[in-house]
Amino acid sequence: MTRITISGNKPLSGEVKISGAKNSAVALVPMAILSKGKTVIYNVPEISDIEYLIKIMELLNCKVEHKNDALYIDSTNVMNKPIPEELSVQMRASYYFMGILLARFGRVEISFPGGCNIGARPIDIHIKGFEELGAHVEIIKNRYIITANKLIGKKIYFDFPSVGATINVMFAAIGAEGTTVIENAAMEPEIVNVASFLINMGAKIRGAGTKRIEIEGKCPLGESVIEVFPDRIESGTYIIIGAALGENLKIKGIIKEHIEALLIKLKEIGVHYEIDGDTLTISRCNKLKPTKIKTLAFPGFPTDLQQPITALLTQANGKSMIEETIYENRFKNTIELNKMGADTKILSDHKLEINGPVKLKGTDVVATDLRGGASLLIAALIADGISHIDNSEYILRGYGDLINKLKNVGAKIEITE
Ligand code: EPU
Repeated sequence: MTRITISGNKPLSGEVKISGAKNSAVALVPMAILSKGKTVIYNVPEISDIEYLIKIMELLNCKVEHKNDALYIDSTNVMNKPIPEELSVQMRASYYFMGILLARFGRVEISFPGGCNIGARPIDIHIKGFEELGAHVEIIKNRYIITANKLIGKKIYFDFPSVGATINVMFAAIGAEGTTVIENAAMEPEIVNVASFLINMGAKIRGAGTKRIEIEGKCPLGESVIEVFPDRIESGTYIIIGAALGENLKIKGIIKEHIEALLIKLKEIGVHYEIDGDTLTISRCNKLKPTKIKTLAFPGFPTDLQQPITALLTQANGKSMIEETIYENRFKNTIELNKMGADTKILSDHKLEINGPVKLKGTDVVATDLRGGASLLIAALIADGISHIDNSEYILRGYGDLINKLKNVGAKIEITE
């Protein structure tokens, strides 16, 4: 168990540099298997999901070298093997091996993916997409066996713009004969990052970042390089920290267009910030107004920032409401926040009320999931006194070099195993 200890209520100033996006990197790394040779991925974040992905890549006979923030992957001798449960359950993104191995070998055997327990999280849209392209899917004792003699491009309509399904079906479509069209595709920046890598490798893809994506099948692809986009959720988390405790805190490496929904919301509640190029400078706001937030698919307010901003809204003057439309179980963190003195009420699986302002007090809490853990971290930074956050390994899954980044701007934070 990993424990983070924070002595709170310290002003934060200096600069935080944003790392590469977890949710892009976890798709870009396995994607190297679609190349018949060497690929390089720059700006890879230092997070545990990447370490597990590298283990799976090595199991599949890819050579992976990690130098600074770059991964050099050689897939020349890639082999298809079943991916065991002890690796697949370590993260949600192990599901990307489904689309990738299906495209490259016409067969995949993999145990159920893992990831944070924030709702039911079925993968039926992925599976339906594979089946529409001609794959046969069998589930035997928690293992998926997906096979296809031949995949054929087709028009596919998604009932919901799932990020994972959009990327996974794009991967499978690379191995299909002809053109695949995904209608009602997810528009998250991660999709654009993945499509750019595929295009760099020689694929023909149009429309990534819009609701309609067209993919022409061609597999394997060639050698290429890509840079992981800056993490918009990590950016948002540090911006929220800055709104609570910043004294001209600089967040470097942001892409404004990726975090617009958060920036508009922060303006609305009275937070001031300035943006110069890729750097946002922010100071604490002493008179926050309450607000209503509804999480939505991109470009709406991201569900992954719902829990972090809840910690900030405990400091707003009045009642704030959150409507979580993406997941059914993403308020578990609030039970822990209330132990610190927050006044939140779960009204239903999808609705949360937050009353403020409250004086948060340092206490012992337990991280329930990655972004829930981030909300406790923010609350602990705001609180008077010392907090211990147990199960902090969840937080480290999504925030590379977290402790150093916060220490460097003045936080009193330690980590122990
Ligand atoms: N859904 C289905 N069926 C599917 C796929 C999704 O019902 O086949 C539902 C899910 O149960 C969920 C909603 O659709 O209620 C959204 O799921 P989506 O597929 O968009 O999410 P995901 O691909 O599983 C990625 C990120 C999540 C992030 C969501 C939404 C990765 C590895 N994970 O998950 O990131 O919350 O998109 O933006 O890319 C996080 O970083 O903390 C995190 C949970």
